[in-house]
Amino acid sequence: MSILLKNVHLLDRPEDERSDVKVDGGRIAAICAAGEGAADGWEADEVLDCSSKTLMPGLINCHTHAYMSLMRNYADDVPFETWLFDRITPIEDSLTADDAYWGNLLSIMEMIRTGTTTFVDMQMFPRMAVQACADSGMRALISRGLVGQSRSDEAAKRRLDEAFDEMEYGKTIGALCDFALGPHAIYTCGEDLLSYVSDLAAEKGMRVNIHLAETEHEFRSCIAEHGLTPTAYLEKLGLLDRDILLAHCVYLADEDYALLARPNVHVVTNPASNLKLANGFAPVHRMLKEGLQVAIGTDSAASNNALNLFTEMRLLTMGQKGVTKDALALTAEETLEIATANGARAIGRDDLGRVEEGRTADLVLIDENAPTMRPLYNRKAALAYSASGYEVSDVLIEGEFVYRDGEYTTIDAERVLFETEKIAERYR
Ligand code: NI
Repeated sequence: MSILLKNVHLLDRPEDERSDVKVDGGRIAAICAAGEGAADGWEADEVLDCSSKTLMPGLINCHTHAYMSLMRNYADDVPFETWLFDRITPIEDSLTADDAYWGNLLSIMEMIRTGTTTFVDMQMFPRMAVQACADSGMRALISRGLVGQSRSDEAAKRRLDEAFDEMEYGKTIGALCDFALGPHAIYTCGEDLLSYVSDLAAEKGMRVNIHLAETEHEFRSCIAEHGLTPTAYLEKLGLLDRDILLAHCVYLADEDYALLARPNVHVVTNPASNLKLANGFAPVHRMLKEGLQVAIGTDSAASNNALNLFTEMRLLTMGQKGVTKDALALTAEETLEIATANGARAIGRDDLGRVEEGRTADLVLIDENAPTMRPLYNRKAALAYSASGYEVSDVLIEGEFVYRDGEYTTIDAERVLFETEKIAERYR
């Protein structure tokens, strides 16, 4: 289907300039000054007047656990270790694959509603995540969470086999999903298993998705056990030579920055989750100054407690300014880059993350009549500082509407709410 978005505002054009954007075959086929393309005889199956809309690239949530929206607001105001081991893990262990399917869809609903078009996931039931993506039209990079001591560990082997099965399954149902290897963390995976994952990633050309240096306890324990910081430990195991996403990196030693400043390494900051679990605030300002690549994620709804990248961007930029006492620590423009183009690079999809001719059409329309968007002095500032996500009116993924005029086009929202409430009844 081809779509013509007429008279729309683009973020990288002057505030008063309007453009026409043609979407065809899942791509941004052409962009020109408003009226010129139509005058040249542009035709499309659908023409939308976007006179009161801003068009922006879909946001990319580079770290979450989508099925965990089932545990939203279930375990709050408790310390990290209690939260993870006493409250969350027991529920996780009792979830069925069917439960996970509905949890994934609930998360996808929230992400689409707030302008996210791609998410990076660490899953217990990847098949259900893949199915939920296929059914909703959502894009994702999915990894099966791996735990265990060594490559001969039965549970680790089973989880890896499952991960490879699910990749095949994803291809057969046409989901917009890529796959990564997902060793959970250095404190849940042994040295041998981590080395094995590093070898597998090299052999198969796959990305690695891992939590790193999330807590002070993890940082100190790693030094006590291995004589190395978590970052230096990953370097020793060869993992920093792979295309890798490192969720958190709240605790970095001075010498860690140089180890992380390479084009294949992507730090994914999760400001709300780190604050809520009382783990601190990642030094993103310094990361950027030292040449690290930084993307953003929400982490799960069990620790955030939302999957909303607009509120996450606001927290990130304001937090960096506050912590550094530098109003320029992270500008609105840099913050938007982190949530779009940097995210695209982190997942190896340079075709995403910008509104440019030839790129894949993962696009979000913003309603400029929302009070938070007025007056329209500076759209980037409005999106990074004022917006809450509910200014999103329409969302396209690969050139297809998944949200249109405030309605889901692919998801039966009532059914998802009904099914997730039914699951929650078991845990009340
Ligand atoms: Ni996480």
